[in-house]
This record gives sequence, structure tokens and C-alpha cells, in this order.
Amino acid sequence: MNILVTGGAGYIGSHVIVELARAGHRVAAIDNLCNSTRASIEGAGKIIGARVELHEADLRDAAAVERVFAAEKFDAVVHLAGLKAVGESVEKPLLYYDNNVGGAINLLNSMERHGARRLVFSSSATVYGIPKAVPVAEGAPLSAINPYGRTKLMQEKMFGDIAAANKGWSVINLRYFNPVGAHPSGMIGENPRGVPNNLAPYILKVASGELAELGVFGNDYPTRDGTCVRDYIHVVDLARGHVAAIEKAASMGGCRAYNLGTGRGYSVLEMARAFEEATGRKIPYSIKPRRAGDAAEMYADPSLARAELGWSAALELADMCRDAWNFARGGK
Ligand code: NAD
Ligand code: UFG
Repeated sequence: MNILVTGGAGYIGSHVIVELARAGHRVAAIDNLCNSTRASIEGAGKIIGARVELHEADLRDAAAVERVFAAEKFDAVVHLAGLKAVGESVEKPLLYYDNNVGGAINLLNSMERHGARRLVFSSSATVYGIPKAVPVAEGAPLSAINPYGRTKLMQEKMFGDIAAANKGWSVINLRYFNPVGAHPSGMIGENPRGVPNNLAPYILKVASGELAELGVFGNDYPTRDGTCVRDYIHVVDLARGHVAAIEKAASMGGCRAYNLGTGRGYSVLEMARAFEEATGRKIPYSIKPRRAGDAAEMYADPSLARAELGWSAALELADMCRDAWNFARGGK
């Protein structure tokens, strides 16, 4: 298939490009580089041994999106472009609705106009809100507790409505748990700007000495060591889930959702220990107050993706930590 990856220069997008190309698909990217650089597209190109075309355009610019679809015929779209910082979404909700929801509307209009009606979307476990029980299956109640989460939920609903109204559409919403790690080549990985909000990038900066210590947000949760439990998944496994999903979308109609997680949870302190082992460095930490909106435990029931997509995560936490550290040190 000829596949357009929106947000292809991003952390997850660059890995998705590599895995789609490895599976024999032709891939182009669209990205406005608001949270990435061309280096990741070039890195993906080096891994696959072919140039990856990047259309530098903003999804909010309907005419620019239309030009991309007019220039080339796409069989399917993997839509990952979006803003993703929860705290920023609380401070600037309109920016998030405009960028994430508005951008998706322009994308869908061009897809419809050009007959590219297969879509795989980067949703998030955040659509489960604070889950009542774990592991979380796709049928669990949906809710969102911040504007970022609402943009994911709104997009899922919007895609469902379109697929219900027009039989030609097939949509798969992939609900990611916590992506960690990098490509084992060290050529692409996660490179957040400024002080990281997320756990693994923060720990890496402590390991490299850029930050003094990890703040652990709460140790009084009802979990095995009192710190929050999450389902960390290697970004290469996550990217392979997109290959399975795009192939599924080619043989189905309607709209479906699948969890992409391992089904196994690790606590914040277990993560710090795993990175200590992978890096050989001490990760000093201190206990801080709880962070607002954090669920005590969140991990996936990944059985639907296994049964219907034929996909399951293969890599372990040690692989995630090793590959993330390898990338952070510049592939050394
Ligand atoms: P990222 O910021 O590295 O990648 C997103 C890419 O989208 C960036 O390259 C950015 O420049 C681009 N982009 C943003 N707005 C755009 C616009 N209007 N037009 C064109 N390009 C635009 O983030 P990521 O971690 O790779 O996440 C990819 C997707 O997966 C996001 O939609 C995110 O919400 C979702 N997701 C990520 C996580 C995670 O923990 N990383 C978890 C669940 C879901
Ligand atoms: N944590 C710390 N200290 C830090 C950073 C995080 O203790 O400096 C803790 C958090 O409190 C949480 C755990 O580490 O318990 C994981 O936090 P992350 O921010 O890495 O991940 P979240 O599970 O909170 O959120 C991530 C993405 C969201 C997405 C969600 C569900 O950031 O965008 O997973 O997919 F919606």
C-alpha cells in the first residue's frame, strides 16, 4: 500500500515509518515539525535504506493538506500528528482542540475527497480516564479527564460517526499505553524539548547527569510499593502494531479500537531500578506529592489485538531501557 503517516517526523511516527517500509509498504510523511526535526525522517531513511518523502505542512492548513493528497494517491493514512502534553492542554485548551481535532477534520475531508478511506489513529489509554479495574479491555467505560484526553476521545467518536455514515470507510483506533525505548540502531528515538513530563525521558536525563534526581509523584497509592503502575511498551513493538492494524483495515469496514500494551505493569520505582541496571548509573530520587489526574494502576488487556490483529508485544522492559539509553547516548 501507499501510506501517508501524519506526524511522521515524531517519536512514534518515525518508528512507524520504519516498520511499514520493512513490511513492504511505500510511505510518505506529513509534519509541520512543531515538535520534531527532519533528523528523525533522515534517520528512518537510513534504517530502511531509502529516502522518505516529508511534506512539511500543518494539518490546520486545509489547502496544504489538500495539495499533498492531490499530488499522490494514498491507499491509507496513519494519523499520529498532534500535540500531547497534558499540562499544556489544560493551560491552552483551544490550541489542543484546534490542532488535534481541527487538524483531523481537514485530514478527513481530503481523505474523503481523494478516496483514501482507510485510517489508523494514534489514540491513547487516556480515553479510559481513571479505570475502575485493571487490566483494561476495550469495552471499559470511556471518559477523559483533561483537554488532551478529550481531543483523543472526540477524534475516536468522529471517526466512528464517519465510518457509520459511509460504508467505504475503515478505521482502527489504537489505544497506546506507555511507549518507551528507541530503535536498536540508535538512529531514531525520543528527544523531548526542555524538562521532560514523562517518566522514562526524565529518568534518562537523571542517568546522563543533566537532571539531579527523579521526583516520584506519590508513594501512597494502593499498589505493591505505593508508586503508580503503568504498562510500558517498546516503541518498536508499538510501531509493529500499526503494520498489523493497517493490514486489518484493508480487509474490514467500520470502526474498531485495540489496546497496544504488554498486559504487564511496572511501578515508578521498578522503572527507576530497571534503568539503573541498563545504564549502570544510580538514579537518585525523592518522593513528591501525587500528580493530579494520575491513576494508581493502568495496564492493558491486550488479548483483542492478539486475537484480531495477530499482534502482541515481544520486547521486554530491559530492551526498552537499553535501547532508550543507547539512543540518549547518541547510539554509542
Ligand atoms: P511527537 O510530538 O514526537 O510526534 C507528533 C508529531 O506531530 C510531531 O512531529 C509534530 O511536529 C507533529 N504535529 C503536531 N501537530 C501537527 C500539525 N498540526 N500538523 C502537522 N504535524 C503536526 O509525539 P509522539 O510521542 O510521537 O506521539 C504521536 C501520537 O501518539 C500523538 O498523537 C500522541 O498524542 C499519541 N500518543 C502518544 C503517547 C506517548 O506517550 N508518546 C501515548 C499515547 C498516544
Ligand atoms: N512520574 C513520576 N515522576 C516524573 C514523571 C512521571 O513519578 O517525573 C510518574 C507518574 O506520576 C506516573 C508514571 O510516572 O505514575 C508515568 O507517568 P508518564 O507521564 O510517563 O505517563 P502517564 O501514564 O501519566 O501518561 C502517558 C502519556 C499520556 C497518555 C497516557 C496514557 O503521557 O499522554 O500515558 O496513554 F495519555
